[in-house]
Amino acid sequence: METNVPKRRDNKKSLRVKVISLGNAEVGKSCIIKRYCEKRFVPKYLATIGIDYGVTKVQVRDREIKVNIFDMAGHPFFYEVRNEFYKDSQGVLLVYDVGLRESFDALDSWLGEMKQEMGSQANMDSIVFVVCANKVDLTKRRVVDEGEGRLWAESRGFHYFETSAQSGEGINEMFQVYTSTHAFFSSITDMCENGGKRPVSEVSVGFTKEQADTIRRIRNSKDSWDMLGVKPGATREEVNKAYRKLAVLLHPDKCVAPGSEDAFKAVVNARTSLLKNIK
Ligand code: GTP
Ligand code: MG
Repeated sequence: METNVPKRRDNKKSLRVKVISLGNAEVGKSCIIKRYCEKRFVPKYLATIGIDYGVTKVQVRDREIKVNIFDMAGHPFFYEVRNEFYKDSQGVLLVYDVGLRESFDALDSWLGEMKQEMGSQANMDSIVFVVCANKVDLTKRRVVDEGEGRLWAESRGFHYFETSAQSGEGINEMFQVYTSTHAFFSSITDMCENGGKRPVSEVSVGFTKEQADTIRRIRNSKDSWDMLGVKPGATREEVNKAYRKLAVLLHPDKCVAPGSEDAFKAVVNARTSLLKNIK
């Protein structure tokens, strides 16, 4: 079977890895990389043309890691250039702008584009994904909150970090903090040492996909009927039955998924308001 395990060089302790950055244009991919590698921030937007390539060396435990970074252009225009570069990656930075919902919603299509180029899910499983909720310094324009972003990431087994390339917040923690086993480079190293398989326990989610999907559905529901998953005009029994099912799934004592407490409260309120109007 084809895996993404990189070739070790002569020195047993050194590794070469390839990482790529993905996400809509202007979300801050290049700035995040620049902040980490060059410790600086450029406020002026300079769109990446096709791909930017850079190399950095990092130390993870007793290993020297040579990281080849392929910083992709987010603009759809560069699809033809990008699609050459997905293969053989060990790490992916998936970036969105917390002030632009469409950049968050686009994460699924970025994964889709990558999967198409990788050929199979098996190849996607031997890659470490880190989601960067970027531009958290711009608090007033934020529209995607931490719970929503974390839920999307962790329900897929991806790491989640809040970052600002402008202030530097979260950048070192995300790439490499020696004490954090969740950091990007240490996770990639762990994966390589584990024969190219993402260690199962790496992101200990502690909640089910059903819980994550239900919270997402509740957040996006258009009214109380929709939230409880019953037809408008449903009976008291139907409302109570739907409520009990959701309460068991989302009760804060049972569910640790990000956003479960708010979802639970919303469900309680939806039931109360519906029952008020049903004879
Ligand atoms: P493409 O290369 O076109 O795909 O864009 P990109 O994702 O690489 O975006 P880039 O890093 O070039 O940043 C886009 C714009 O957002 C620039 O004007 C940056 O200065 C700004 N920017 C990036 N990160 C941050 C951040 O954390 N906070 C703020 N306030 N601005 C940021
Ligand atoms: Mg760029």
